[in-house]
Amino acid sequence: MKVNGQPYRTIWLKPDNPEIVQIIDQRHLPHQFVIEDLKTVTQAAAAIKDMHVRGAPLIGATAAFGMYLAVLQAAKTSRDSFDDAVNAAAETLHATRPTAINLAWALERMNTGIAAADNIPAKIETARQLAVEIAEEEAEACRMIGEHGLDLIKEISEKKDGRPVNILTHCNAGWLACVDYGTATAPIYAAHDAGIPVHVWVDETRPRNQGARITAWELGQHGVPHTVIVDNVGGHLMQHRMVDMVIVGTDRTTYTGDVANKIGTYLKALAAKDNGVPFYVALPASTIDWQIRDGFEIPIEQRNADEVKIIQGLHDGEIKHVLLTPADSPAANYAFDVTPARLVDALITDRGVCPASEEGVLSLFPEKKG
Ligand code: MRU
Repeated sequence: MKVNGQPYRTIWLKPDNPEIVQIIDQRHLPHQFVIEDLKTVTQAAAAIKDMHVRGAPLIGATAAFGMYLAVLQAAKTSRDSFDDAVNAAAETLHATRPTAINLAWALERMNTGIAAADNIPAKIETARQLAVEIAEEEAEACRMIGEHGLDLIKEISEKKDGRPVNILTHCNAGWLACVDYGTATAPIYAAHDAGIPVHVWVDETRPRNQGARITAWELGQHGVPHTVIVDNVGGHLMQHRMVDMVIVGTDRTTYTGDVANKIGTYLKALAAKDNGVPFYVALPASTIDWQIRDGFEIPIEQRNADEVKIIQGLHDGEIKHVLLTPADSPAANYAFDVTPARLVDALITDRGVCPASEEGVLSLFPEKKG
């Protein structure tokens, strides 16, 4: 997608030095556009944990590039300690964030590829190629989610006589959460680009405000009409028929269709069900957990209470942090919740749209049967 007219992805190898990985440091958006160099696996792990990068597909891609950096570093140690260094790096990356399954998915693919290469130069080349491949595949998967989701928006638009389709989204499941296009936003960009009038209600998404800061910024960069709302408005808008559909992303979806996504998603799904508003979840195959049957087994990340207590914003041209709560009040920071499959109208995947159920998911991924 474009930033000030220039095409970007969220992660790439530095063109004049492919031993450096570059990312957009999202902590500064929307006020500053900062590109960060990652030179070590420690920096890659910190970038994931401290949310310079975030969003399930991008967490996976960053872990993949982190393993490439780990292999480059390990090659500078002795042959004996090479494997230990690479294994330790995988563990460090794995421990960064617990909910997005894309992290474990990418690490497993990297570990298998690196282990199969039989000398150190081959391991370096395999790690580089695999990381690039994972990023490319995730971008293509999101493009396909856009193609499949476009039909759902088109269908609603045809009944609206040229009036915009109002889509509510939560958190940032946009291109900045992925490698390109986004998951929830991919159908929205596809519809906008096809000339279908759309308008997006952007949940601010406390505590880190990924909606207000990041989704609003990226929709604005692409010229998509949108309105930022506080997290509690969605139910009111749905009661007043001001939302035609909800599309959200997910950090982990069980093969039975239960969906873990940013905290607050469940309440939007409840409101959507009560008001007959279709509720869709967009995801690439890498976000499906093929082991867990019941969504309540998904590990839910709890983050630092300061994210709830302290707000970040622009003041006099500088990014400032402001204490919101009484200094001594404890705060709880559950980062994700689980929306049961029964509240999800359909999953929009890179292979097509399916019911949020075991039968539905397996109909698109028959190779996973049994
Ligand atoms: O805590 P974050 O910002 O990493 O959470 C991101 C989300 O919850 C997204 O909705 C999810 O990763 C879907 S990504 C396209």
